[in-house]
Amino acid sequence: MAILPILIYPDSKLKKVACDVPDVDDTIRTLGRDMLETMYNAPGIGLAAPQIGVGLRMLVMDCTAHDEDPDPRILINPVILEQSSEIETDSEGCLSIPGLTADVGRPCAIGVSFLDVEGVMQKEQFEGLWARCLQHEVDHLDGKLFVDHLSRLKRQVLLRRFMREYHQNRAQSRPSGVRTP
Ligand code: NI
Repeated sequence: MAILPILIYPDSKLKKVACDVPDVDDTIRTLGRDMLETMYNAPGIGLAAPQIGVGLRMLVMDCTAHDEDPDPRILINPVILEQSSEIETDSEGCLSIPGLTADVGRPCAIGVSFLDVEGVMQKEQFEGLWARCLQHEVDHLDGKLFVDHLSRLKRQVLLRRFMREYHQNRAQSRPSGVRTP
């Protein structure tokens, strides 16, 4: 297994739409394991392939609480089929914009299809933090970051501050206790 470098905003690869995984083979399974190790090491609760510079529709996540057993998940070619009309707003962050958090409203529950690591089609419902994280990661596959859900003014203010603090001072702090996808 390997820990891979995570791309940081404004890397242009974060804005590209990823392509479907054509075949779920050993290369993809190894990539999934490496992505999980990279995510746990960060530490984060989700990671999408474009964040490590791979333009494939694939993501990993584990949103279990600290006192629960880990539940590492690898989702290939995920598609959100349905979403609840109920919206929940909560603080969100991203491993590609370290230290920046903002409130984002998202549907509370979603139904998703995806291929598992055996290449078998699965359908599953996700809710709560799992649903939020999964939507955040699917956004990455579409070249979208969580700040794209904010108003233009708010996004500009936050990203300008991020560029100043992270890229100029390399501030290492993650000020909030938000768990970061
Ligand atoms: Ni992210």
